[in-house]
Order: sequence, then structure tokens, then C-alpha cells
Amino acid sequence: MLEVKGLTKRFGANVAVDAVSLSVDRPCMIGVIGRSGAGKSTLLRMMNRLTEASGGEILFDGRDVLSLTGREKRGWQSDCAMIFQQFNLVPRMDVVSNVLHGTLGRRSTLATMFSLYPEEDIHTAIDILDRLGIAQHAAKRAEALSGGQQQRVAIARALMQDPKVILADEPIASLDPMNAQTVMEALRRIHDEDGRMVIANLHTLDTARRYCDRILGMRDGRIVFDGTPEQLTTGVARDIYGAGTDFSEAATSTEIRDTAPVAAVERRLAKVTV
Ligand SMILES: Nc1ncnc2c1ncn2[C@@H]1O[C@H](COP(=O)(O)OP(=O)(O)OP(=O)(O)O)[C@@H](O)[C@H]1O
Ligand SMILES: [Mg+2]
Repeated sequence: MLEVKGLTKRFGANVAVDAVSLSVDRPCMIGVIGRSGAGKSTLLRMMNRLTEASGGEILFDGRDVLSLTGREKRGWQSDCAMIFQQFNLVPRMDVVSNVLHGTLGRRSTLATMFSLYPEEDIHTAIDILDRLGIAQHAAKRAEALSGGQQQRVAIARALMQDPKVILADEPIASLDPMNAQTVMEALRRIHDEDGRMVIANLHTLDTARRYCDRILGMRDGRIVFDGTPEQLTTGVARDIYGAGTDFSEAATSTEIRDTAPVAAVERRLAKVTV
């Protein structure tokens, strides 16, 4: 289904992604972990063609993704929707219009300028919001919603494209543990119910283990681990993060716990991932 071969990205002398190869034969939920600068975002951005690769190949259902141009490239970008840490919504615009932005790829400039959306699309948008449990906020400005709700609006906007793949770059990194859980559950459900492939960069091990079928560990631009959550032992994680024996899994945890306030967990995380 998805075949990545020797994918490489150089920024000057710096090799951000170093000959990554990867094969996915059925839609699954994949988590990508690794310390800051490992190349996780660059990998996702190359898949979506937001960043041009320096070399290698990406094949999706036989489509040669890196060679697509113009309309075909936009078609691919619509098939593989991207979700970001900072949601990338239009803050002052209402929620449903933000979701309808997901249809921009297939609408005329004139219709877009005057916000002329077909009634059918508006119904679809509300249905998607309803599915994500936020239809009651449809008429509010995006900025009036909590972070977790805003990320679900971003997911709704992605679903509006009816994508085959959802690429999520640290979708829960700005959220508190409760909201993080809601957003991860939404992504998992979209995978389970719709059969869409989800690839998410995650900065916490427990999230990757809990929600993903397969986990990729990146270090210095390379995939150094590719396995199941069960195979991702503390020792393996220590290698991926290039940490010493003092490596503590708690430092990459978003679990809700009374004893470790979030700020403390984040401080420890900063030590491991910076
Ligand atoms: N636009 C850019 N120009 C130059 N160098 C870049 C650019 N984007 C990324 N890099 C470099 O490429 C490497 C990989 O960066 P990337 O953002 O993919 O890492 P990451 O694993 O997503 O890190 P983080 O966990 O901090 O998000 C880093 O060394 C980074 O400095
Ligand atoms: Mg990143």
C-alpha cells in the first residue's frame, strides 16, 4: 500500500532524513517516536509533499508520489491530510467554516472568496463534527474552543478531504492529558471505523504503545526500530532516545497521575528530548 524507499532529505550538510525505507501493506496506525531533531516532522512533510525530498521514492497504491505535479500533486495532498501540533485553524472564523476549508482543494477560487459552500458539504461538516463530539460548537469561533476541541476541529477539517492517510505531527503535544486522550481516541476511532491509515509523530512512549499497532523509532534521520508496542521495551526506547541508564520512561509519559504534575513531567521530558 505504502512503500518508502531510500527517502532522504538534506538541509545543506545536515542529513535530516537518511535513506529511510518502510513498507506498509494494510491501513494501520503507526506511531513515530524519537528525540527532538531525529527527523520525524521532515519524514511526514516529505510524504505530504510539503517538503521536497532530496532523494528516494514514495509509492502509494502504485502512485509515484514524489513525481506528481500540479493537479495530481494536489490530489495526493488531499488524499493524505496533515494535522499539526498548533491546529492551524483560522481563529476568528467559525468552526464549521474552518472544517469546510478542508474542501478548498476541489472548489473554485470565486466560490471560496465568497464562502459559498454547497449545502451538502455543510451537512457533511456538521456530521463529522457530531462524530467527533463537538457539533454543539459548530457556530462558535474556533478561538473560543479548548485546545482539545480545536484539534478535533482540525481532524474534522482533515476528514472533510476524505483522506486515505492522516499524517499527524505531534497532534497532542500542546494538550493537557485529558484532551490528549480525547484526540488520540478520535484518531484511533477514525482508523478503526474508516480504515484510514494514520501516521502520528508522538513524543511520549505510553501514547505510542497505547494507540498504535506499529511503532517506528527514529534516531539521527534513520529508522532504528520498527516493531509492535510489545517489542518497544525500556531498553529499546533508551537506544532510540540515545539516553543513558538514568533514562526514565516517566519522562516521556502523558499518563494522568496525581503524583506527577504535568509541568514536572514536561521538565523531565525536555531533558530527554533536547
Ligand atoms: N527547514 C529546515 N531548514 C534547515 N534545517 C531543518 C529544517 N527543518 C528541519 N531541519 C533540521 O532537520 C533535522 C530534523 O528536523 P525535524 O524537524 O524533522 O525533527 P523532529 O524529529 O520532528 O524534531 P522535534 O521532535 O523537535 O519536532 C533537524 O536537525 C533540524 O534542525
Ligand atoms: Mg517535529
